[in-house]
Formats: sequence, C-alpha cells, structure tokens
Amino acid sequence: MIIAIDGPSGAGKSTLAQRLAQELGFIYLDTGAMYRALALKLLRQAVDLADDARVNEVVRQTAIDLRENGGRLEVLLDGRDVAAEIRTPEVSQMASKSSALKVVRARLLELQREMGRRGSVVAEGRDIGTVIFPEAEVKVFLDASTRERARRRYQELLAAGRAVDFAETFREMEERDKRDSERDIAPLRQAADAVRVDTSSVDAESVAALVLDLVKKKAREN
Ligand code: DC
Repeated sequence: MIIAIDGPSGAGKSTLAQRLAQELGFIYLDTGAMYRALALKLLRQAVDLADDARVNEVVRQTAIDLRENGGRLEVLLDGRDVAAEIRTPEVSQMASKSSALKVVRARLLELQREMGRRGSVVAEGRDIGTVIFPEAEVKVFLDASTRERARRRYQELLAAGRAVDFAETFREMEERDKRDSERDIAPLRQAADAVRVDTSSVDAESVAALVLDLVKKKAREN
C-alpha cells in the first residue's frame, strides 16, 4: 500500500507521515529530505543553478538514500548521514530552487519510485499524489494558514537553537511556497482524489486518527 501526503511546508506532513509509518510498520519516505540532501551538496560545491552542465554532472555523481536507524531517519548523502545539516533556512531555499530543475526532479523521481518498490510506504512531499505515486491507495493534502505554518517552523528553528526572526521565517516560507506552487514541473498541487485536511486548529493526534481511519477503510475494500 502507498499513502501519499502532500502539502506546503509546515502543514504537518512529517509529523503525520512518521506517526503513520510507525503505527502501520510502513517505510517512511521523506522526499523533501532527498531534495534537501541534494541541495546541501549543490551548496557545498557552490554550483550555479544556471549552469545546466554542472548541475547535471553533480546530480549524476550524487548518491542519496534514506534509512531508518533505531527510530530515526538517516538521510544518506554519498553514504554519510546529513539529517542534522539539512534543516537550515539556507538548505530550505536551495532545495526549493533546485527542485524546480528538470534533471533534479527526473533523478529523484526515479529514486523515489525505486524506494516505493521496497514495500508499503508513507511518502510525503509536494507531488506524491499527482506525479510520483498517482496510483497511491490513500492520498492526503494537508494545509494550514500561512501564519500557523510559519509559527510552527519558527518554533522548530528556535528549538534547534537557531537565532531566527519570525517575520523573516514568515517571508521565507511564503517565498518558498510560491516557488514550489508555480514551477512548471510537478508543482505543489492537490490531487483530484486527495482528502484535504486543514491542520490549523486540529492537533496532530486527531489528524493521524482521521487518516488511519481512511487507511483501514481502504484496506477493507481491497
Ligand atoms: O518538505 P520540505 O520542506 O523538506 O521540502 C524542501 C523543498 O524540497 C521544498 O521547498 C520543495 C522541494 N520538494 C519538492 O519539490 N518536491 C517534493 N516532493 C518534496 C520537496
């Protein structure tokens, strides 16, 4: 079975996907982490995104994988875990920019579909229900007000010990969502058959319970 969870940043996708994966024993496929890992490499190598040949070369020479290790998701970039390094505002912006590129999306699409063959998965991202796994049995589109999403991201960054400014976090989030929704290839979009859930004023537990009900219903049908 495949569960697809899409939505803008800060809508609660990771919290939901992790809960479902744990509860159901499914593989957790955090596609945003894959875009982030590649973005980290592009930043480290100071790659100019306008230089197609160079981007192509780096993409071809990069290995990205996800691995669960004692309840924690390891994000492997060329064999090294970079899970702690990819949650910065710089990487967020670079991931949003580089994910608009055709070569980047084509490579990650291939990797993500390959991971989908490893077993039952809960995949979260922007184009899971529309492009990566259009055949997913359960599709959820999570959303929340921009203010609430920015507040969550701000709290996360503060908790991680980063000196951040709320107005700045809000602005960066709006900018990223606009870019992710307006790009030509696989933009953030709700699939026609996805269930939309607004998480602005619903706690994570209730959202998980609602989606678990959908999953159980689907499992009975099949
Ligand atoms: O979900 P996230 O914030 O970790 O994702 C980081 C960026 O990666 C996001 O701004 C856009 C891109 N992304 C994407 O284009 N497609 C996906 N399926 C997942 C993420």
